[in-house]
Amino acid sequence: MNRWRDIPQRSDLLLQYLIDIQQRDSCISTESIQKLSTELAIPAAQIKSVIEFYSFLHTTPRGHFNILFSDNITDQMAGSRALMRQLCQQLNVRQGDPRADGRVTVDTTSCTGMCDQGPALLINNFPITRLDSKRIELIAQLIEQDTPLEQWPAEFFEINDNVHRADILLTHNTEDGDALRALLEEGAETLLQRIGDAELRGRGGAGFKTATKWRLCKQADAAQRIVVCNADEGEPGTFKDRVLLQSYAAQVIEGMTLCAGIIGASKGFIYLRGEYRYLLDSLEKELQRRRDAKLLGNNILDQQGFNFNIEIHLGAGAYICGEESALLESLAGHRGIPQKRPPFPVTRGYLGLPTVVNNVETLMTACQIASHGSDWFTDKGTRQSAGTKLLSISGDCQQPGIYEYPMGTSVSDILIDCGADGPQAVQIAGAAGQTLCHREFKRKIAIEDASTGGSFMVFNRHRDMLDMVQNFAHFFAHESCGFCTPCRVGSTLISNLVDKLYTSHATQNDLRDIERIALVMRHASHCGLGTTASNHILDTFNNFPDAYQRRLRSTEYTPAFDLDLAVCEARAITGRDDDDAHIVCPPQEGFKP
Ligand SMILES: Cc1cc2nc3c(=O)[nH]c(=O)nc-3n(C[C@H](O)[C@H](O)[C@H](O)COP(=O)(O)O)c2cc1C
Ligand code: SF4
Repeated sequence: MNRWRDIPQRSDLLLQYLIDIQQRDSCISTESIQKLSTELAIPAAQIKSVIEFYSFLHTTPRGHFNILFSDNITDQMAGSRALMRQLCQQLNVRQGDPRADGRVTVDTTSCTGMCDQGPALLINNFPITRLDSKRIELIAQLIEQDTPLEQWPAEFFEINDNVHRADILLTHNTEDGDALRALLEEGAETLLQRIGDAELRGRGGAGFKTATKWRLCKQADAAQRIVVCNADEGEPGTFKDRVLLQSYAAQVIEGMTLCAGIIGASKGFIYLRGEYRYLLDSLEKELQRRRDAKLLGNNILDQQGFNFNIEIHLGAGAYICGEESALLESLAGHRGIPQKRPPFPVTRGYLGLPTVVNNVETLMTACQIASHGSDWFTDKGTRQSAGTKLLSISGDCQQPGIYEYPMGTSVSDILIDCGADGPQAVQIAGAAGQTLCHREFKRKIAIEDASTGGSFMVFNRHRDMLDMVQNFAHFFAHESCGFCTPCRVGSTLISNLVDKLYTSHATQNDLRDIERIALVMRHASHCGLGTTASNHILDTFNNFPDAYQRRLRSTEYTPAFDLDLAVCEARAITGRDDDDAHIVCPPQEGFKP
């Protein structure tokens, strides 16, 4: 299948063409690369470097059934590793290698955004959730029988919304076109003012004021402007955008159209993470439905010149592409490398055009504010953080799922609501966020206090917090884009040192190294991934020092490399064994977290 066959060859669609080729051929062959190179006038080496960047793209074939187990810590806590081993055993396949007959590959991938119904896996891009031993057995049988996916039990592929608490956003639905009619009746300036009065801040994590972003883009001098919906949702433990795209897509798209009408954009993109590819058809249908209803396309609601079209671009398994400048690179068909800022996307974004990038939840909220007014929103929340926030709650609680809370709600209230049993920690805002211990459960979800893009993972008192640390350390080493040294080298060093600690081979000196590297990454990395990648380390050093201390090989200093031993051959050759021929290591201070 080729989603782009009617579109003249565009180099910015390179990533989309590659995704289509892989979908068709199971990998991207040298011939396909050569053909694309000729058609798009892009050097083959550049195309190869794009393929190498995205973990879902391959130049060698995967199995006919390509299975990727979600490897987030919450999946692991629910037993995903044992289930993967079971499947590998039943299918007689080694993790990561296609089986000799080419039937199947089994591997892991970063969080698939199904933490409320994990353990989960992707099979040929379709998620299967609620895995257990029985389901794995059935999957193995279906694969051995070569049963096409369409004939697999439908309940395997059911994805539930799991909304357990709804507030204004999820209960006050707007009618199709309400926000756009308000725009046409009251004018762009009034609507922009309304979004500003509502004090709406971006829901993607950074909390930038939405009206300010839109105004800056509107003021940028250009013939064309762009609106991008950031649906990359790769932060481990976050899945609220998945639910909005599945059940509230009309309002998200209307929010994009509203933004386009206000800033004067004629083109928009939904950048949909590859893991959510199963939502592609329903989103395409929703776009078409809105075009037919004159809510999208040319002359929207019969307003001459109000033209706005949206394309959906798929991601391909790169967490960094959620960072807005990397996302814009990816949209242009490049490797998703974060760019230097300024210039910010509002003045120089997609293909150099002024671009608004907003999170899915931000766009839906803007749509509702346009219809219901700013007071509707500011009546909820705190002085600095208006409105409500969607949380994706997972981990050790009885009712994982989506919860909408007024900003300012305390962590302890949320823990009671979701049925957390004996929590010792909450990881908010994903792997890049904060690790709160019980002393901090009085803190409030708000931009000025415990700020989160939506992830809320609960760890009960029986969990070893080092499991989480190791999972996140591996995650960042894998997801670092490699552009800058502090993050590229630092994330790998930390991952290796944490592994050493995990297997009880580390010393106090290794802990000191971990801390030193974590601080270098925080202060010297090029983008938000590197500056936040060690948050979990530094927080757990402070809040859970025992998790580290009990894994140490020795609480005394032991050098990882015995320098004195290394020069013993030189001593033998020179026939020396006096004091000066020995290297004496100075005593080190013990690690004090
Ligand atoms: C490593 C990294 C990953 C990010 N991932 C996402 C994401 O998946 N979704 C998102 O909306 N914002 C993500 N962001 C934040 C975006 O860069 C950007 O601030 C956001 O899309 C702006 O939208 P908002 O103003 O509506 O929040 C990420 C940032 C970083 C540094
Ligand atoms: S901090 Fe990490 S992800 Fe960001 S540019 Fe540097 S290497 Fe890439």
